[in-house]
Amino acid sequence: MKLLTESHPFILSALGGLPDQMVKFPRFRYMGSKFKLLPWIHEVLSDIPFESVTDAFSGSGVVSYLFKSMRKQVFSNDALAFPSVLSTATIANNTTHLTENDLEELLGAKARGKSEEFIRQTFQGIFYTNEELVFLDDLWAGIRCMDAPMKQSIAIAAILRSAVKRQPRGLFTVAGDPERYKDGRRDLKLTLREHFIEQVGCYNSAVFSNGKRNTSTSGDVFDVLVGNDLVYMDPPYVPLADDNCYMKRYHFLEGLACYWQDKEIMTTSKVRKITKPFTPFAYRHTALDAFDRLFRKFADSTLVLSYSSNAYPDLGSLRKLMQRYKSSVDVFEKTHRYHFGNHEASKRNLVQEYLIIGTS
Ligand SMILES: C[S@@+](CC[C@H](N)C(=O)[O-])C[C@H]1O[C@@H](n2cnc3c(N)ncnc32)[C@H](O)[C@@H]1O
Repeated sequence: MKLLTESHPFILSALGGLPDQMVKFPRFRYMGSKFKLLPWIHEVLSDIPFESVTDAFSGSGVVSYLFKSMRKQVFSNDALAFPSVLSTATIANNTTHLTENDLEELLGAKARGKSEEFIRQTFQGIFYTNEELVFLDDLWAGIRCMDAPMKQSIAIAAILRSAVKRQPRGLFTVAGDPERYKDGRRDLKLTLREHFIEQVGCYNSAVFSNGKRNTSTSGDVFDVLVGNDLVYMDPPYVPLADDNCYMKRYHFLEGLACYWQDKEIMTTSKVRKITKPFTPFAYRHTALDAFDRLFRKFADSTLVLSYSSNAYPDLGSLRKLMQRYKSSVDVFEKTHRYHFGNHEASKRNLVQEYLIIGTS
């Protein structure tokens, strides 16, 4: 089996001073991703001395990958399982690749028995064709047989990115005829199997060593170990409009990352959503206290908070909160447009982005 790579979506001219390694990052469509803000984040953080860093809300993993490329020791964490698979494959993994032989074995695997046919039984007619659902079950049967966790993480990361590319808007909110959207876009024309082969190539080529022991975990930020020089915090925002539920948009990826192990599917959901986990950052009545606890928890590190003007609490409140724990708090600002949602929503999405940085 020949490994392929897609032509990379990163526009080189947009790299704007980023480390060269960044062209290798498999960009992942993710709500609130800081992908487009990376040159700015890099520029601001380049002036701060630090050797080790915690990316406490890693999401797509792109900021962790930037830190890794900057030769920092990276600890990457997210409450959801699938972001942590993405960062296991790209951040914690310094050396492991999937070989052509591994890929051949994965593609030849077959589900054995009903317990390995969960996807075809649960998602018929919702996001993918029957053939693709069978492919996902079979692939997972192959992943289960692999004995190296790093190899498993590459295979799972590759199928996660394939699943997103094969979805019209990269979201899993509405059920639809899987054939309906075949509108000529390459990503929608390729089957999941074809995507997977390509994505294994992408994740293989993203693997590199920065000479540090990097780690990836999945868990609540309040359970993350303290002690790194700098903590980068990019929590979900309490939105002024819309909602910010990651599980609503990405439940299929969250399930696919662990074959729905210990995940509870909502019986009333047409798209078989997983129950939404609670996070205090998503609600007005809990957000301020959550930020206070967050800053207190990491008070011995340099604090870097990504935030935006279209969210609650406002800049002034967050600055004051951080000043409780840091004597020097600086704010860096940049205008940015988010491209999520429909045309009207994206007009609303012109915002000021902030980096609120607490030192000493
Ligand atoms: C704005 S996104 C991070 C985006 C990321 N920086 C990027 O560029 O892709 C916020 C992330 O916080 C995670 N999250 C929400 N509540 C959390 C919690 N209590 N602990 C850890 N992670 C949490 C969400 O799963 C989501 O991935």
